[in-house]
Amino acid sequence: MLKKISAVVLGGLMVTALAACGGDDGAGSGSGNDDGKITLGFAQVGAESGWRTANTKSVQDSAKEAGIDLQFSDAQQKQENQIKAIRSYITQKVDVIAFSPVVESGWDTVLREAKDAKIPVILTDRAIDSPDKTLYKTFIGSDFVLEGKKAGEWLVTEYQGKTEPVNIVELQGSTGSAPANDRKAGFADVIKADPKFKVVASQTGEFTRAKGKEVMDAFLKANKDIDVLYAHNDDMGLGAIEAIEGAGLKPGVDIKIITVDAVKDGMQALADGKINFIVECSPLLGPQLMDLVKKVVAGETVPERVVTEETTFTQEQAKAALPNRQY
Ligand code: AHR
Repeated sequence: MLKKISAVVLGGLMVTALAACGGDDGAGSGSGNDDGKITLGFAQVGAESGWRTANTKSVQDSAKEAGIDLQFSDAQQKQENQIKAIRSYITQKVDVIAFSPVVESGWDTVLREAKDAKIPVILTDRAIDSPDKTLYKTFIGSDFVLEGKKAGEWLVTEYQGKTEPVNIVELQGSTGSAPANDRKAGFADVIKADPKFKVVASQTGEFTRAKGKEVMDAFLKANKDIDVLYAHNDDMGLGAIEAIEGAGLKPGVDIKIITVDAVKDGMQALADGKINFIVECSPLLGPQLMDLVKKVVAGETVPERVVTEETTFTQEQAKAALPNRQY
């Protein structure tokens, strides 16, 4: 069966079939379509960050490698677009639906529709807050609370033995998303043990560079003595660096900066001394996801939770890791 490239526009939402299945009846057979291939409908968050771009590439490359037909949609950071995409995958009777939820809440109805249509769902990257665990087969992604804790632990060590107040500003990820909620909670949990740490301002920068710059500009205007910036991703941190430099300050020196992700641009800024510490969040979920898709279609048992292995980087470690960084 020849692969077709097709694009379907759903009320402003672009659903692109990268290697669409050719079956006319569109029937998900449970083991693929009439070309014998598994069809996976993947509803991505958007293209808001370097992390997201690397994640999309990982999913697309791995699907190709695994011989899985991938239907891919970009929700442009809007939950309603993701819900539309999932409904379109249900109508198309794909074999498996995978998605990275824009926000944690509000998925039960559409996931019940998938369950009623007997289409298994896999959560990738981000969790949902539904108590009904039967709505999805497995969840593969990072432990975001642990990432926040690692950021907090670095800070505690960095300021060990010092007694003066440490004024922190926080750039949160997209409001309502699992990484924003969990990275905030993990960080707060660690620093609360020492009252010298004060979060003087905390606001969303929507995981983007532009918003990170805009919010950091406002933080700098409203707060005279900022010691530390904790940004929930590299992109917001990089935007904030522009704001800090624009204010005549030295990022990494006048204001210490901690970020999450460890994408190439972030690692470069870390190696250059403009960021002080990065907690890694791996976007390379594609190979494991395709493995899980195959197992789910074959009716094999899969673990409820697959946690991604990750590390952290200091400035010296970034210098050593940069030449081999894939993304
Ligand atoms: O869900 C993962 C987060 O989403 C990444 O840390 C951030 O960069 C992205 O946009």
